[in-house]
Amino acid sequence: MASSHATPVNRQFRLRNRPVGRIKTSDFDLVEAAPPEPGEREALVRTLYLSLDPTNRIWMSDMDQYMPPVEIGAVMRGGGLGLVVQSNSARYKEGDIVSGLTNWQDYSIAGERPDNMMGVIPKGLPVPLTAMMGACGMTGLTAYFGLLEHGRPKEGDTLLVSAAAGAVGSVVGQIGKIKGCRVVGIAGGADKCRFIVEQLGFDAAIDYKRGDWREALAAATPEGIDINFENVGGEIMDAVMARMNLYSRMPLCGMISGYNSGELMRGDFSPILMRRIRISGFIVTDFAAKFAEGSVQLAQWVAGGLIKHHETIVEGLENAPVAVNRLFDGQNIGKLIVKVSEAPVQ
Ligand SMILES: NC(=O)c1ccc[n+]([C@@H]2O[C@H](COP(=O)([O-])OP(=O)(O)OC[C@H]3O[C@@H](n4cnc5c(N)ncnc54)[C@H](OP(=O)(O)O)[C@@H]3O)[C@@H](O)[C@H]2O)c1
Repeated sequence: MASSHATPVNRQFRLRNRPVGRIKTSDFDLVEAAPPEPGEREALVRTLYLSLDPTNRIWMSDMDQYMPPVEIGAVMRGGGLGLVVQSNSARYKEGDIVSGLTNWQDYSIAGERPDNMMGVIPKGLPVPLTAMMGACGMTGLTAYFGLLEHGRPKEGDTLLVSAAAGAVGSVVGQIGKIKGCRVVGIAGGADKCRFIVEQLGFDAAIDYKRGDWREALAAATPEGIDINFENVGGEIMDAVMARMNLYSRMPLCGMISGYNSGELMRGDFSPILMRRIRISGFIVTDFAAKFAEGSVQLAQWVAGGLIKHHETIVEGLENAPVAVNRLFDGQNIGKLIVKVSEAPVQ
């Protein structure tokens, strides 16, 4: 761990080549550099936790995307939580915990420009620190704004959520319950299906790894689907589309089933016309101006037990390139996080 080195070393994963299919350790060079020197109005940040996200796979590729791809030779981009260990900026104090693009490395720089600014996490939170990466952080905010602003849930709506036991999906379903929806989740495997019903309060779960999942989808949505919070794309999205109601909504959050192949689906548009389905793609940063409001509401729900926060934590920065594949193998429940170094007691 970085904190145990006498002289701090900054381990960095630099992208060696664009992965083909699954991510491999050999797609990166692990180099050891000196920690960067913070300049004027900058602070040095030691990474505590790294967020592993399906979008890491998008950033490694050169597919059409919402941010520039990571350049070959550059440090892999990634969100994280870090500790300010040195500061030349009035915005950051030593000992502050910050959230932002720490990237896949031990040390990063937080600045005051929009492109290198990090958010200071308030002290004395009523939720665990790691929830600020999950249910109350970026993935929770994705669920919150995607569902409320694009899905527009109403009491009694049938809400369908895919990747339902994951970071975004698990929060979507729980917000749906708060809003009075009948919530049906799609997840891979019996354990995840039990988890979302028994622990998260979903009304029904469909195991898409079973041969009869299409029949199970029909049985679980006898009155059709009013909102589909789409996380996976591919044949699951096609099957769900066929059950969407007139004037239904489909927040299009992600299409993880196509990220490794780079082949995002080409679908049949006719149900969109015939049933006037409103499909709206969004990226969480569209709502950046309202993040504080969303985080406060999510933290209240988590602290009050209305939303349960779950996470899968992998130890050690060195394991990031292997661990990120868990998202594609379904080997995570809730938010997937790498613990990079020890957080101070707040
Ligand atoms: N628009 C935005 O701003 C935004 C922000 C964050 C995330 N996202 C998107 O939201 C989705 C979920 O992200 P997350 O961070 O919450 O990840 P996650 O759900 O915690 O992890 C990904 C899950 O996807 C499922 N999955 C993987 N490959 C699949 C496949 N081929 N078919 C069906 N399910 C598959 C796996 O669960 P199973 O075991 O159930 O298969 C896996 O656990 C992703 O598509 C991501 O790109 C979008």
